[in-house]
Amino acid sequence: MNLSDNKIILVNNIDSHFFLNVAQWVTQTGELNLISSEKSSVLSVDVLHGWFTNSIAGVVLCIGDIPIGVATLCKSEINLLPPDTVECCHLVVHPKWRKLYNGTLIINFLLSIAKKLGYKRVVGRVVPTNVIAKLLLNSLNFEPIVTFEDWMNPDLNWYQKRFK
Ligand SMILES: CC(C)(COP(=O)(O)OP(=O)(O)OC[C@H]1O[C@@H](n2cnc3c(N)ncnc32)[C@H](O)[C@@H]1OP(=O)(O)O)[C@@H](O)C(=O)NCCC(=O)NCCS
Repeated sequence: MNLSDNKIILVNNIDSHFFLNVAQWVTQTGELNLISSEKSSVLSVDVLHGWFTNSIAGVVLCIGDIPIGVATLCKSEINLLPPDTVECCHLVVHPKWRKLYNGTLIINFLLSIAKKLGYKRVVGRVVPTNVIAKLLLNSLNFEPIVTFEDWMNPDLNWYQKRFK
């Protein structure tokens, strides 16, 4: 499979078998705690489906017919998120397809949607030990939010990107 086969699909166009496939490999990574506040170590199809149905936009990155990454843009995950702000959530890339700029591709795609929808700021939460996610966000010019805001969960690290 060639990387030029990459395509991003908005989730309303995807087939339900993609959900099963993604739920299985995400569970196998054992990294659900990095992606969601779910307490379970198993990502069920229902929970995955809920991520997308409760989102403003959800994307699946596919190589050919294989879903290798997902993420969402959400307002519903955090109470009191300011009106001009949206959260980038649930980002995960299949381990076999990491370090190939697929995470970058997915976030840039969601940033372009957020901008088109008129949001001024995109935020993201990171589990403090998740060094790789922090490096990814740094590489995309997200900055750490240093001044505490009411909506933040203080147990997590928060990053933001403001549109000019
Ligand atoms: C975080 C994650 C989505 C990154 O996806 P990815 O497709 O591998 O990331 P990219 O290839 O786009 O990486 C872009 C930049 O991020 C940083 N980065 C990504 N993976 C890295 C690694 N293993 N080691 C060091 N830096 C890394 C680098 O700065 C990289 O740019 P560079 O290669 O030019 O140095 C992926 O590792 C993942 O799914 N992790 C588990 C779930 C998770 O942590 N989600 C994020 C929740 S906030």
